[in-house]
Amino acid sequence: MSVFSRLWYRASVQTKYLLIIVPAALLMTIGGNAFRQYMAGQRVLNATAEQFEEVGRRTAIALSTEYWNYNTSQARAIVQTLLLIPNVVRVSSTELVQGKTAVGSPFHFKFEDVELAATDPSEQRTLAFPIRVKRTEAEPETVGQLTIVYSLAEQNRLNDQVFHRTWTTAAVMAAMVIAMLTYALNRAIIKPIGKVSDSARQSDEDFVPIELNTGDQLGQLVTAFNDLRARHIESTRQLQAARDEAVAANAAKSAFLAMMSHELRTPLNAVIGYSEMLKDELAEDGVTPTTMADLDKIKSAGKHLLELINSVLDLSKIEAGKIELEIGPVSVQQLVDYAASTVHPLIEPKGNRLVVQVPPDIGSVRSDATRLRQVLLNLLSNAAKFTKAGVITLSARRERAPGGTEQLVFEVQDTGIGMTAEQQGKLFQAFVQADSSTTREYGGTGLGLVICRRLCQLLGGDVTVRSVPGQGSCFTARVACDGPQTAAGDGHA
Ligand SMILES: Nc1ncnc2c1ncn2[C@@H]1O[C@H](COP(=O)(O)OP(=O)(O)OP(=O)(O)O)[C@@H](O)[C@H]1O
Ligand SMILES: [Mg+2]
Repeated sequence: MSVFSRLWYRASVQTKYLLIIVPAALLMTIGGNAFRQYMAGQRVLNATAEQFEEVGRRTAIALSTEYWNYNTSQARAIVQTLLLIPNVVRVSSTELVQGKTAVGSPFHFKFEDVELAATDPSEQRTLAFPIRVKRTEAEPETVGQLTIVYSLAEQNRLNDQVFHRTWTTAAVMAAMVIAMLTYALNRAIIKPIGKVSDSARQSDEDFVPIELNTGDQLGQLVTAFNDLRARHIESTRQLQAARDEAVAANAAKSAFLAMMSHELRTPLNAVIGYSEMLKDELAEDGVTPTTMADLDKIKSAGKHLLELINSVLDLSKIEAGKIELEIGPVSVQQLVDYAASTVHPLIEPKGNRLVVQVPPDIGSVRSDATRLRQVLLNLLSNAAKFTKAGVITLSARRERAPGGTEQLVFEVQDTGIGMTAEQQGKLFQAFVQADSSTTREYGGTGLGLVICRRLCQLLGGDVTVRSVPGQGSCFTARVACDGPQTAAGDGHA
């Protein structure tokens, strides 16, 4: 954008209007008047020239009689009389013999107005008239010349005076017209537009419909604006009400889920406990292997159900904002060792190998040890679940986040089935598995990663993924080394 376009863009409507109207008004009033004045002046000058032409022509005829009669005194009087005409600077007469000035002729006269002779020569005009005598029937003979010099100084002065007066009047009138138009524009257009933009900036609570008593387009615009604003306020109110209802319903759902999960856990723990007790008692009595296998099935189904209920309970607590974090010092090495040993039974049976890479100086962080364990176990059990005869690597390091805070970074990398970009896009959504066939083949509820991500976010970080189908996946979990920097820092989130 050029400098001019930028200034034009920023200028107010009044400025733009004045920039257009002022030159136009000046051009029309002052320019028009100046032109008219100039033309009037020219007409006066032409009329003056014609007058002198006529006077000169007639005087030359009168002089020709005096030349013929050789009456020098009369000729002198006639020439001198011309000096009485206003604005005549100089008059002179000569005698010509065969086209040449006759030296020392008694018909040579020259009269001058001393005052006018001192005026600017550029303002003087000279007219010459031949003095003709008809001696024979043939052509009249030129016997002399009459010269009149007149001045335009007075006329020019008058013209200038009139011009200045007209110019001043025109400028005053132009200024008055501009002021009136600006006032009218302000009242009729700019103020109402200002009202609309002021009102648009008002909050819904402060909004008062704009009043404008005019039926023109601006009045219609204001009416349309008032209607629009009223509709907007109404729909915002409805949305607000709907949102409040939805939030309340969601909170009720989460509360119900949390309560239900809690209520279900007690009898389920009893089922699992009694199945173990029964197994121990029946082992002593020596029952058939089929009965033992059936008891194992009851126990593992119960455990699976318990895991599921725990996940639902976790998620609903997180969603309801009721999860409690216990922030304290966490030894990273101990955490990693615990996760590796816990997940070991899941890794070996599928021919996988677990590699742990933790720098010896990793030290401790301030975080929630239980939640961190939960995240690592989730990621490791996923890696074990989706990898066969491969390598699973768990590594930990410290890293500076772009904001300057220090983060603890865990990476769980596997050489398993991997995921396509589309599958990765569906991760981290509750109850959604990257591939619906996964449920059939590998089991699971699709809650693990959602919980991992929410927990890491509560702990000041996040979970991200990189994956190539058929080659493996790498999940990265980050948490703040100094604990969450929110109200959760006091132990609650
Ligand atoms: N390491 C991995 N390799 C390949 N796919 C994975 C991996 N980890 C997760 N996925 C995909 O992401 C989906 C969601 O994982 P998530 O842990 O949330 O649920 P889940 O393991 O199916 O069930 P849950 O953990 O609740 O028992 C998985 O079903 C799987 O399709
Ligand atoms: Mg999982």
